[in-house]
Amino acid sequence: MYKMNKLIGLSIILSLVFACSTEKHSSQWQSYSGDPVIEYKVDSVLSLMTLDEKIGQMNQYSGNFASTGAVSDNQSGKYLKKGMIGSTFNVFGADHLRMLQEQNLKYSRLKIPMLFAADVIHGLETTFPIPLAEACSWDLELMEQTARAAAEEATASGVAWNFAPMIDIARDPRWGRVMEGAGEDVFLATQVARARVRGFQGISNYRDLSKPNTMMACAKHFVGYGAAQGGRDYHSVDVSEQSLYDTYFPPFEAAIDEGVTSFMTAFNDLNGVPCTANNYLYKDVLRDAWGFKGMVVTDYTAIMELMHHGFARDLKQGAQLSLDAGIDMDMISEAFVTHLKELVEEGKVSEKQIDVAVSRILEMKFLLGLFDDPYRYFDAERQKQVVMSEANQSLALLAAQQSIVLLKNEGKVLPLSTEIAKKVALIGPFVDERESLNGEWAIKGDRSQSVTLREGLEARYKDSKVQFAYAEGTELPLLDRSTMKAEKDNQDAERGFAEAVKVAKASDIILVAMGENFHWSGEAACRTDITLPGNQRELLKALKQTGKPIILVLFNGRPLDLSWEAEHVDAIVEAWYPGLMAGHAVADVLSGKVNPSAKLVMTFPRNVGQIPIYYNAKNTGRPFDAKAPSDYKSSYIDVDNTPLYPFGHGLSYTSFEYTNIMLNAESFGKGEAVKLKADIVNSGDCDGAEIVQLYIRDRVASLTRPVKELKDFRKVVLRKGETKTIEFTIDEAMLSFRDKNRKQITEPGEFDIWLGASSDDESNRFVISFK
Ligand code: NOJ
Repeated sequence: MYKMNKLIGLSIILSLVFACSTEKHSSQWQSYSGDPVIEYKVDSVLSLMTLDEKIGQMNQYSGNFASTGAVSDNQSGKYLKKGMIGSTFNVFGADHLRMLQEQNLKYSRLKIPMLFAADVIHGLETTFPIPLAEACSWDLELMEQTARAAAEEATASGVAWNFAPMIDIARDPRWGRVMEGAGEDVFLATQVARARVRGFQGISNYRDLSKPNTMMACAKHFVGYGAAQGGRDYHSVDVSEQSLYDTYFPPFEAAIDEGVTSFMTAFNDLNGVPCTANNYLYKDVLRDAWGFKGMVVTDYTAIMELMHHGFARDLKQGAQLSLDAGIDMDMISEAFVTHLKELVEEGKVSEKQIDVAVSRILEMKFLLGLFDDPYRYFDAERQKQVVMSEANQSLALLAAQQSIVLLKNEGKVLPLSTEIAKKVALIGPFVDERESLNGEWAIKGDRSQSVTLREGLEARYKDSKVQFAYAEGTELPLLDRSTMKAEKDNQDAERGFAEAVKVAKASDIILVAMGENFHWSGEAACRTDITLPGNQRELLKALKQTGKPIILVLFNGRPLDLSWEAEHVDAIVEAWYPGLMAGHAVADVLSGKVNPSAKLVMTFPRNVGQIPIYYNAKNTGRPFDAKAPSDYKSSYIDVDNTPLYPFGHGLSYTSFEYTNIMLNAESFGKGEAVKLKADIVNSGDCDGAEIVQLYIRDRVASLTRPVKELKDFRKVVLRKGETKTIEFTIDEAMLSFRDKNRKQITEPGEFDIWLGASSDDESNRFVISFK
């Protein structure tokens, strides 16, 4: 049993006295909780700390168990013995962390508990679909639930701080980290950011982290990381202030509103100033304008990287610049722990600045209850109960089913009935692939446990007349992470192809499972060619020669260039990386047990040359009209302007009709709103769910506005033949934007409204005016 340090005990007694007094808290630090008792406890501990001890709290290391960055020789052992580590990340397991905490407390004079963190991006051991996939469900409740389940497992395994959600808007599929976010759209990504923060931090009372199953969330990476030039990871970002406010800031501002407790810096240089030392971002915007009171951690070695950016001459200057910008904790660089004391002695930074950073860190430790019991998250019993629990596994199945997007279904080749006797050729490297199914950032997900496609199909069709025959056809090219180059597949392609074609010829239908090895997306995994890797397309071409219908199932972490596939195969199922329950979920969709309802949250380009391509772009002065093409318009000579599959696209096995669409007014003014009602009818042959999307365009404004912006949506579950009425409220806020002074305004004028099944659905357009 942990014995509370006497001094801290004293501070708690004092805090009770303080709670009754009316004296105002005097520190420059403003607490996240706003709780005077917590503030007093923090001040009490801080007042007992030496400068070294304070600086130690600002120092964070990675455990050696899961390297999520370049491995660095660090001095963690030395600083542990000095009680100068505030936090360690990517270390797991109740028993193991108990031991580490014991070590820390042995050396920490004031018995300040260590805070354990991790990248629990899509589940701890129960692996949910990658975040990009899950966002395609447009099901906010589901995303909150999977985040909650991840937090349950993580907190029982010792981790109380999650480096998630990643809420960078991403519009460049070359960038490997698109798999971690919620896609290209601001409105949807903002809702998803809120849902995930709620899920990690606990649903009922977001300012209360005291329950043993709630954890700190981290809004990352602030900011613009998704706009890396050329889609190359860590590359510079040069975006206008209007883009920051319109596109990249909103999910972060919403996360604060939702109560997020921490932020992580972005690696990139933003308009000439690296984010990790960016005063404008962290002081002017985050702290002053948005009032964020939680803590800020750098990304991995980001202070060190200020030297490569050419922004700091040495690590010491990097430490000074980052502290000045308002950074509280240094991940890996050892810049603070090595140089802050010296900088204080030289008068280059003040101890007051350090006090503010340390207060933020201590407050989190108090809020998490770590001072009361530093071992409270190491609960081997709870770990056994919640980790990979049946409930979490069922949730993983549901999340995977809801994330699968049906991109094409020519001639209703899907679903593959269980009734009709059919010979199905199972071809491609993903039929038996297991390791990749969890995708990147499956931090503790046991890759050997994921259900393969073949296993899922065999289980699903066990008692049916369907027969499967198998040929791999070709191998999946791998990635050599030491050189960061794609390895060419070394298989004898001709032999593989011949065998696949033979199996295909003897079958009624060909089911091909292809994609990217999981290392091909995620951090530092960017591509300039986003077609199917290796000779997978060539294999498809060989199969096409058989004349048999082809169903293509894809496992990948980014939108791909599928232009050949879209033209030549009959059905395309985008399964992404579905996680633990992959094979079952895909089999459920292929068989029609589950009717697919997911819709894309990122545009699929026709080719890489169209990138960046996203639905909510600005218009040009010379818009191209495909119905009346003419010279000197904004278009390509070798490819259409339109994407292959737009944002919001996704098919179902049933059909939906939008009828009786009514607006209760055509114009409205300040303080008023317009109601839009519509009947959604399931007019097809089976039950299903439709994601109804509401888009708006501001026709004329003092700053140009996008051609369309998603403003609301409903996911409507409908039985076969059922009709449901849905209602949207269009108010002033929905029509507003930031003007050139960054003030939120709504300008009078006309607005187009679309209600549709996708961002390119033009069937239901209305015009309203704001007076
Ligand atoms: C670097 C990544 O950019 C960040 O997202 C992650 O949290 C850290 N590494 C720690 O693993």
